[in-house]
Amino acid sequence: MNPAPIGVFDSGLGGLSVLREIRALLPHESLLYLADSKYAPYGEKPEAFVQARTLQACEWLLAQGCKALVIACNTATGHAVELLRQTLPVPIIGVEPGLKPAAAASRSKVVGVLATANTLKSGKFARLLASLDGESRFICEAGLGLVPLIEQGDIDGPDIRGRLDNYLTPMLEAGADTLVLGCTHYPFLSDTIRDMVGDQLTLVDTGSAIARQLARKLVEHDLAAVPGAVPQDRFVSTKDAAHLRQMAAALLHIKTQAETVAIEPAPAF
Ligand code: DGL
Repeated sequence: MNPAPIGVFDSGLGGLSVLREIRALLPHESLLYLADSKYAPYGEKPEAFVQARTLQACEWLLAQGCKALVIACNTATGHAVELLRQTLPVPIIGVEPGLKPAAAASRSKVVGVLATANTLKSGKFARLLASLDGESRFICEAGLGLVPLIEQGDIDGPDIRGRLDNYLTPMLEAGADTLVLGCTHYPFLSDTIRDMVGDQLTLVDTGSAIARQLARKLVEHDLAAVPGAVPQDRFVSTKDAAHLRQMAAALLHIKTQAETVAIEPAPAF
């Protein structure tokens, strides 16, 4: 039994979609959420920067006493999870686009994948695609420009809708019936996407699977909190605590305090 917090890391606000699932499944665990909004988006940054900055942010979370880390960012996982597992002495839970469940759910065996440019370029994603060779046809689109809009709190404006239309139309034209939300920011677009495409696409995100994986790892490493413990959550941003607080309220309907921290100097890439 261990009362220390679980660190939940994302380049920005997207990891809140994973935190929502962790909070629902593990109500007694304390969570420390770190949004690196000062350096978001990671999806179009040099890979070396994403890797080094993710390590730096995770070292900061460990210095706060975290007992396990959830890398609630497909982009950071794609480029850094192996390094983190080699370097850091706590269980590391990463995320990956839900291609496997999508291929299993698809009837047409044509699956759309929306993820950041960096996720789609990563070796980890290439290996995932290769492992599913023959299971489905995957139509991959980089969701350029979506993350900065979501970071500003725009989840259903005309700009978001215009961009989504550009990315989803080729998928629908190719016969896709399932859409992988391959970036943790994108579940906040689910209602908008449903409004645009109705039931033409089944949406797949892996937040709840990540929460279950975390629960298994905590038990395996004897790190779970005492049942009945009252969680002490912290929400931390490298850019603007007030904005994180407002967005947690808007996206998750939770009232919370938030802090701004400086994790500097950032890697020079
Ligand atoms: N939420 C992220 C992901 O899952 C990162 C988005 C970004 O910073 O570009 O990929």
